Amino acid sequence: MKFFLDTANLKEIREVAGWGILDGVTTNPSLAAKENAKFEDLIRDICAVCPGPVSAECVSEKAEDIIPEARALAKIASNIAVKIPVNLEGLKATKILSGEGIAVNMTLIFSPTQALLAAKAGAKFVSPFIGRLDDISQDGMELVREITQIFENYRFDCEIIVASVRHPRHIVDAALLGADICTIPFSVIDKLVRHPLTDAGIEKFLKDWGKVKK
Ligand code: E4P
Repeated sequence: MKFFLDTANLKEIREVAGWGILDGVTTNPSLAAKENAKFEDLIRDICAVCPGPVSAECVSEKAEDIIPEARALAKIASNIAVKIPVNLEGLKATKILSGEGIAVNMTLIFSPTQALLAAKAGAKFVSPFIGRLDDISQDGMELVREITQIFENYRFDCEIIVASVRHPRHIVDAALLGADICTIPFSVIDKLVRHPLTDAGIEKFLKDWGKVKK
């Protein structure tokens, strides 16, 4: 499974890149709004730190506006994936942009039919938002299961980015389903390696090491 960081914060991206497990980054307008930087500069800096795919979101609403916006974003760096919300205008734009070789991440996916249409339009990634479904008492992971099965059935070359991740269990369940990618907030990725029994074990071993004759 590939690990993307769901943030626009350069400090967090540099930190996780240093762990050696960072495969990509996803941003969105809400994440970018938290940073004190011009959007284009921010995305360029993120692309310089992370060689994997970096998602930058289009905010235009009509296909004829999304297309030039996406082309401009794709020019910022060779590892940009343009993020486009899944609706009819987004699908029309995705079909054209993917035909030009631009990587599209279709975002705000909340149903298997949206994912199927995105894959048919040539999207390289689909981003089902798991946590936001869980928030309204629906089963976010069931959506990942259905999309995984559909993509396997038809051998779509479209990767599933499990998004809106809220806690480590989401990552375990996504991995059990064989999802390609999880995009994870720093607050969650930071928890993945921690276990109180590991900390207690290290403490005890170090204490006992002090008693070993050297
Ligand atoms: C994914 O690409 C989105 O940036 C993100 O996962 C949205 O998550 P949220 O529901 O925590 O805002």
